[in-house]
Amino acid sequence: MNGPSLPARNKWDRRYAGRTLEDLTEPTPFLISCLPELPITGLVLDVAAGDGRHSFILAQRGLRVDAVDISWQGLRLARQRAAQADLWPGSIQFVVADLELAWLPLRVYDVVLVSFFLFRPLLPVIKDRLRPGGWLLYETRVEPLPDNPLASQRRDFWLKPRELLDTFSDFDVLRYDETHRHRPGGCRGGVTARLMARKPVSESYG
Ligand SMILES: C[S@@+](CC[C@H](N)C(=O)[O-])C[C@H]1O[C@@H](n2cnc3c(N)ncnc32)[C@H](O)[C@@H]1O
Repeated sequence: MNGPSLPARNKWDRRYAGRTLEDLTEPTPFLISCLPELPITGLVLDVAAGDGRHSFILAQRGLRVDAVDISWQGLRLARQRAAQADLWPGSIQFVVADLELAWLPLRVYDVVLVSFFLFRPLLPVIKDRLRPGGWLLYETRVEPLPDNPLASQRRDFWLKPRELLDTFSDFDVLRYDETHRHRPGGCRGGVTARLMARKPVSESYG
């Protein structure tokens, strides 16, 4: 792979390479809180799925999942986790792809999940791939205030305040919040925006 995403792939492959099944992360409280409202059958897209913490729990619920990420090392962990629980092959399909090409599998999804990933040109493609009535779960960071040391980092990974809400204002928004969260032992807390919304079913949409 060449191009602008090569450093991202190398960075994430390095990060995941040293991990084993003992190091796997747990689903976020937001995703857990959304689970009871989601369908129990259908097809899910996990955008930038990482080590598969969300693909796994959604597949355990009975959904079929496409887990897409640039890091084959992340998806290796995800596949090991799924295989250990007899969820692979079958329930989860793993796709190594560069999402900064604004590409997604050419399928229609009942649920799209994005957790801690942002590439703005992908947002209209996400809208397009959801079926009418489909569910969007989106959770990622809002840009830090200028006095935060993280503010000097690459800024296009971060949302503006209310940006997620405005981007999906044509959806039926069921939940939205922007909340400051502390992470145990770390300085990488900050504000996270969390959206649960459904694509309208009306024929006039789109
Ligand atoms: C902060 S992690 C989040 C992983 C997962 N969604 C979660 O919540 O555990 C960001 C993920 O984005 C992936 N990523 C970064 N750039 C990417 C790109 N251009 N295309 C596809 N995935 C990418 C990384 O490999 C990494 O797994």
